[in-house]
Amino acid sequence: MDYQIVNINKIEQQGKGLLSFIEANRDVEFEIKRLYYIYEVPQGEIRGYHAHKRLKQLLFCPHGEININIDNGWEIESVLLDDPSKGLIIKEGIWRTMEFITEGAVLCVVASEYYDESDYIRTYDEFIEHVKGGYWK
Ligand code: TYD
Repeated sequence: MDYQIVNINKIEQQGKGLLSFIEANRDVEFEIKRLYYIYEVPQGEIRGYHAHKRLKQLLFCPHGEININIDNGWEIESVLLDDPSKGLIIKEGIWRTMEFITEGAVLCVVASEYYDESDYIRTYDEFIEHVKGGYWK
């Protein structure tokens, strides 16, 4: 499936914690146009239930644990974001849900496009139509 798990740069300073960073044009293949984050989500809540026509994203969880379920229309896989230095790159055409496993978990996303509602595919039927055309019926 078209996703990648990446190690986000991490600097450890003895006794002073960790620092992670993501640099545009170096750590992600796409141009970064937007950063957003999702927080104060009740434990166990599931968000997402959509795909994108063009948008590429790098997801990471700087605090807590979030399970990302990704579906390309043929296969479904899960990636647990349970470490602030673990990133998940998802390209276009992937149906996703994000399950907030721990209370207070934060999902950060760097994205290749500005927010554009017309880029969303918000129903599963439309998603299958988008990735498989008329052939699946
Ligand atoms: P949405 O992407 O549907 O969130 P989730 O998949 O986590 O449930 O976005 C929720 C709402 O926020 C929706 O009305 C669109 C709006 N929104 C913006 O205005 N700008 C943004 O950058 C994003 C990501 C969402």
